[in-house]
Amino acid sequence: MEEILAQIARHSEEMRTLETPDAESLEAFRIRFLGPKGLVKALMGEMKNVSADRRKEFGLAMNAFKTQAEQRYETLREALSVGADTSGPAIDNTLPGDPLPTGSRHPITLMRNRIVSIFRRLGFAVAEGPEIEDDWHNFTALNLDEDHPARDMQDTFYLSKGPDRLLRTHTSNVQIREMQKGSLPIRIVCPGRVYRNETVSARSHCFFHQVEGLYIDEGVSFADLKQTLYFFVKEMFGEDVKIRFRPSFFPFTEPSAEMDISCLLCHGDGCAVCKRTGWLEILGCGMVHPNVLTNCGIDPDKYNGFAFGMGIERPAMLKYGITDIRLFSENDVRFLQQFTAAL
Ligand code: PHE
Repeated sequence: MEEILAQIARHSEEMRTLETPDAESLEAFRIRFLGPKGLVKALMGEMKNVSADRRKEFGLAMNAFKTQAEQRYETLREALSVGADTSGPAIDNTLPGDPLPTGSRHPITLMRNRIVSIFRRLGFAVAEGPEIEDDWHNFTALNLDEDHPARDMQDTFYLSKGPDRLLRTHTSNVQIREMQKGSLPIRIVCPGRVYRNETVSARSHCFFHQVEGLYIDEGVSFADLKQTLYFFVKEMFGEDVKIRFRPSFFPFTEPSAEMDISCLLCHGDGCAVCKRTGWLEILGCGMVHPNVLTNCGIDPDKYNGFAFGMGIERPAMLKYGITDIRLFSENDVRFLQQFTAAL
């Protein structure tokens, strides 16, 4: 034991006086003291030769030795790297920095912001809600009973049954949630992502984005709906664009309509994009069904209103000349870099 303690003391002294003027001698220091075959390991291995009553004493001496080796190594290493700096300017502070890559807004975001900002100017506020929704907020409250055939119009991804959890098929769930809050009048737009179990192709995807709108007050008329959407189309697509309403059906609105705009590419003459009709279908709309108001605790004899809903992908594809909807979600920077925030 005395012999081992003397060895530790000897090596401790050696360590204190050893200098490492260069990287090579520093590495030699590390190997000699701290390496896997170094002195710290080797002396530690002597533990088995120490009698049980002196093990504690030995352990303390070894710990001190090990700490000394580690600290001395750090000190020598730092001294060497500081020294290296003075040997010549390794860093030229006058060089310009590396440019940081900056992103640009996603085309869907650009289009959504543009749609929302037009409705904001008409006094609509933005409302958002959950993408994972229950059956009641996505369907039942919107006047679609359990076996309503219109449920088939929106092929749904169900996450669980009882309790029902699904991926919302439209952002109308946000309208229901806002109406339930009970503060009237309501004037909101609801942008967000929605999901439908459809075959993925260049024209459709199993998720896409929507902006829906809702206006509830006393004495709202279909003329208000038309004028609001007319204003939107002029702001969005330009003064010359024509609109038309076609009667349609949605369970949550009555009467209901689809709104078309004159084709942006052929200006109504007929082309491949508008399938030779001269018109592009861009949104569904109508007067909110009294059952929907009742379901949300609003008196349909006192209040009424209109709602509308549009996809974002379709107008974005038209605006930017994008021919494949899948590009939006492939995250290929070569595609994404082409859009600036200048919208
Ligand atoms: N929720 C409908 C859809 O996603 C769109 C819509 C909203 C239609 C409001 C009419 C009124 O298909």
